[in-house]
Amino acid sequence: MSYHAEYTQSVENPEAFWAEKAADVPWYKKPEQILSKDENGIYRWFADGEMNTAYMALDYHVEQGRGDQLAVIYDSPVTDTRSTLTYKEMRDQVALFAGVLKDQGVEKGDRVVLYMPMIPEALIAMLAVARLGAIHSVVFGGFAPHELAVRIEDAEPKVLVSASCGVEVKKIIEYKPMLDEAISLSAHKPDACIILQRPQAKAELIDGQDVDWDQAMAKATPSACVPVKGTDPLYVLYTSGTTGKPKGVQRDNGGHAVALKYSMKAIYDMNPGDVFWAASDVGWVVGHSYIVYAPLLAGCTTVVYEGKPVRTPDAGAFWRVCADYKVKALFAAPTAFRAIKKEDPEALEFKKYDTSALKTIFMAGERLDPPTYDWTVEKTGKPVVDHWWQTETGWAICGNLTGIELKPTKPGSSTLPIPGYNIEILDSEGNPLPRGEQGSIAIKLPLPPSCLATVWGDFERFRTGYLTEAPGYYTTGDGGYMDEEGYVFIMGRTDDVINVAGHRLSTGEMEEIVAAHPAVAECAVIGVNDPLKGQAPIGLVLLKDGVDTEEEVLEKELIAMVRKEIGPIACFNRAIVVQRLPKTRSGKILRKLLRQIADGKEYTIPSTIDDPASLSEIEDIMNAQGLVTKS
Ligand code: COA
Ligand code: AMP
Repeated sequence: MSYHAEYTQSVENPEAFWAEKAADVPWYKKPEQILSKDENGIYRWFADGEMNTAYMALDYHVEQGRGDQLAVIYDSPVTDTRSTLTYKEMRDQVALFAGVLKDQGVEKGDRVVLYMPMIPEALIAMLAVARLGAIHSVVFGGFAPHELAVRIEDAEPKVLVSASCGVEVKKIIEYKPMLDEAISLSAHKPDACIILQRPQAKAELIDGQDVDWDQAMAKATPSACVPVKGTDPLYVLYTSGTTGKPKGVQRDNGGHAVALKYSMKAIYDMNPGDVFWAASDVGWVVGHSYIVYAPLLAGCTTVVYEGKPVRTPDAGAFWRVCADYKVKALFAAPTAFRAIKKEDPEALEFKKYDTSALKTIFMAGERLDPPTYDWTVEKTGKPVVDHWWQTETGWAICGNLTGIELKPTKPGSSTLPIPGYNIEILDSEGNPLPRGEQGSIAIKLPLPPSCLATVWGDFERFRTGYLTEAPGYYTTGDGGYMDEEGYVFIMGRTDDVINVAGHRLSTGEMEEIVAAHPAVAECAVIGVNDPLKGQAPIGLVLLKDGVDTEEEVLEKELIAMVRKEIGPIACFNRAIVVQRLPKTRSGKILRKLLRQIADGKEYTIPSTIDDPASLSEIEDIMNAQGLVTKS
């Protein structure tokens, strides 16, 4: 099959295309309604199918004779631990933990929030929730209590699952105090918290609230898979929008299983028994899709790595893991390779390991800059596939189908649209633009399976945030263009979302925190280019009249505030006091212009600007501070 034939069929006859792919997963009752519309008028996939994602990911493989194959390899240089779980062991642990959750009253449709480090128990907990037909919401361990509280309040979980600690290189991060603080900040209180005690730190358990993981497992009985409909939610994953309130991306069971199963062969060329490694974290969408669900749905072995690309212990960590477990596909963020390149520019570490099993390196999460692409290809000799996607879609929108037909790559492009995604570049009025012209990247409806159909508890936010800018399309929030051959070039976000080390963050949220400082009258937080992390946030701060404060002291206070509210992961490390911010006459800060200046781009001074001199003033400051670079 050629890419062209596959893609054309997917957009010309999506129902037939996805009906065929749906036949590739083990439903309890096969769907007859392939594509339908829900009560909100939104396209939905496989509405009347009956299934259970955990069954498809585990029990089914055991039934098919894969019970003794490794499902999970855990490699933790930070705790000096390695372990494995076969499909049968994984199924049994998941069934038992589902029993634990059931003992705590969790039923189909209930939410369970997980705040876990990168350990196999995180996967066990996610799959156990799925086994009960309940809905998990995993919160990344690098988020501060306030962020966790916001998510608890929105998801209203019956139960929380956490561990006593995470380990960041050599630092022990105690989770329990953060969990307790989050619960006290949240108006919604869970009925119980299940805590896994790790040997690196012991958590103080609270009587009447906390349940010890091991003790509960010892008493529990295994629980069966609960059938759900194709359109019942599997999980809610919060992602940064343009405001302080994160969006709960709600993912259906059926479309998710079908799309991910398809992607494993089509995009990643993985067969049952192959080893797949996504070096991400279960707290991000890449972790949900490609550490947990897709490899298991496809009968592969997944690697759970608790470590960094460097410093655990060195820049050879990725190559060591690939060699030790015969990893066939490695998937990581470009930042990780920039970090390796910085420490080991000649790739001397790479030469120490036998990585002959490694066929392809996949990158996503942020823009893959051509120097990093070139370095990785040159030093490893492996094909590198840049693919573009979002939390909202759950799988790649553009990429190179290594399992169908590998197309030539072009530096700076994430290649061609993935089957199912009918991509158009639109102008500001929502009209399609000719090839080569830059605009807003949109996907013509219907979106393929796995993409969100609503924001948890807030359909209106989904509609206004994604569907109204151009009727008939989903707008991605990314800008870019398609060349004559249909290759897609992603040029960056068109909104106030930035990507720091492949982590999506909201500058709007940071502004809300910075503006709460008593000395600050107004501020703008923008992303500037960062050689390691792709982008880094900086605050441009206007002081209240009469405030007399030392800039260094203020900067430290602002950094501490963002760290406390969002977490260290925000990497908010610079705040600069300015005398004026460029604004429109109606008082709106011209953030887009600030971003253009930081990116060293040409810009036109808008006629609506209130004080044109403020623009050159800010440009001088940003130049003097070394904040202007060409992206
Ligand atoms: N729990 C608690 N804290 C965490 C954390 C977690 N799970 N993950 C990160 N942090 C903390 C770090 O300890 C660090 O804190 P510090 O400021 O006190 O040192 C801060 O958040 C920033 O972390 P990070 O971005 O990881 O920076 P780093 O300097 O420690 O490491 C890299 C740099 C390049 C090695 C790292 O950013 C990396 O591995 N990037 C790839 C990320 C990735 O895979 N993203 C993919 C998502 S698809
Ligand atoms: P997240 O939802 O955290 O996965 O972040 C999604 C955003 O990351 C996208 O909207 C893009 O802005 C950016 N992104 C992800 N992958 C790529 C890529 N391959 N190239 C450019 N940007 C990317």
